[in-house]
Amino acid sequence: MAILVTGGAGFIGSNFVLDWLAQGFETVVNLDKLTYAGNLQNLASVAGNPAHLFVHGDFGDAALVARLLQKHQPRAVINFAAESHVDRSISGPGEFIQTNIVGTFTLLEAVRVYWGTQSEANKTAFRFLHVSTDEVYGSLAKTDAAFTETHRYEPNSPYSASKAASDHLVRAYHHTYGLPVLTTNCSNNYGPYHFPEKLIPLLIVNAQAGKPLPVYGDGQQIRDWLYVKDHCSAIRRVLEVGRVGQVYNVGGWNEKPNLDIVHTVCALLDELAPRLDGKPYTDQISFVADRPGHDQRYAIDARKIEQELGWKPAETFETGIRKTVQWYLDHPDWVANVQSGGYRDWVAQQYEKTKASA
Ligand code: NAD
Ligand code: TYD
Repeated sequence: MAILVTGGAGFIGSNFVLDWLAQGFETVVNLDKLTYAGNLQNLASVAGNPAHLFVHGDFGDAALVARLLQKHQPRAVINFAAESHVDRSISGPGEFIQTNIVGTFTLLEAVRVYWGTQSEANKTAFRFLHVSTDEVYGSLAKTDAAFTETHRYEPNSPYSASKAASDHLVRAYHHTYGLPVLTTNCSNNYGPYHFPEKLIPLLIVNAQAGKPLPVYGDGQQIRDWLYVKDHCSAIRRVLEVGRVGQVYNVGGWNEKPNLDIVHTVCALLDELAPRLDGKPYTDQISFVADRPGHDQRYAIDARKIEQELGWKPAETFETGIRKTVQWYLDHPDWVANVQSGGYRDWVAQQYEKTKASA
């Protein structure tokens, strides 16, 4: 028995793989292209684990995916692979269209063919779980109700539009071909192994390096934040007991304006790693030009996954953010390698070792 995970060397995917293996579940075939966001160092602790089969490749490579499916006969495919950074999607949307839309389509096609070759029992048991985002629903006004699963799709950035398109393809493969799909739309994650281009890790890393803490616009945009391990537990729950064809919104009931996040991170750093000059890290806050088309507010109504599947986050924001700041302080080598690009060299060495087993 195996599962196939795409994008398992990225932030959420690597946390998922580590948690999955720690719980002793079946073999994970981990297909990742190792873009700038993929980092095999995230998976260093499972490098020698025979239940982790890393494959360096593109989920948009139909022949490779078909081969992996035939060889490993997974009972489920979990699709994390994506281009995930809104700012990059604004400066270069093409990669987002290729990866998030065309890549997901190619994966779906390969999975559909594989699924069609399975016994009736295996077909019924099979799951394709697509990991998506709350950003597909667009932006809320302050007093609007939080996003439910039936909220209309109104994506505003090339990132969210490409994720929305992939969600629609996944839905279509269920309705047209009967592929047993599940989709999760989750709010902003934070936690270990988060690439420091995203707000929370960027704040921690820049603060420590004495660099400015960039706040877009007035910093009053609101996001719902969920500790990454809670997202991973939600995905496991949906995979095992989610109703086929359904969408589940995942969130932490934890809406915060960006500026609150900045102040919280600064306060934790003041406590855990104070500046040598005794000044507060908030001195480094720098208001910068706003992101074009910046969504004002995201909020998740998580009642469906809570009531139907009995899922609840284990962390509050207070416990999760403290763990996260501490993790970054405890892993200066990981941070240094990401900043220097050294993780790419490490990836190259590691890849030579793992290539043969693909
Ligand atoms: P990430 O950018 O950290 O990781 C993406 C991973 O996908 C990387 O390892 C990258 O190498 C890999 N990848 C990219 N293109 C690939 C391709 N063509 N073939 C194979 N692998 C490829 O992203 P993340 O934050 O871990 O997000 C994972 C998924 O969760 C994405 O689909 C994202 O849209 C979704 N999501 C993210 C968040 C968040 O807050 N980060 C919230 C909700 C949903
Ligand atoms: P980000 O982590 O990029 O996630 P997303 O855009 O997917 O929500 O950004 C979170 C919020 O923080 C978002 O409103 C943009 C804002 N932001 C800043 O104010 N400064 C920054 O340097 C970054 C990266 C983000």
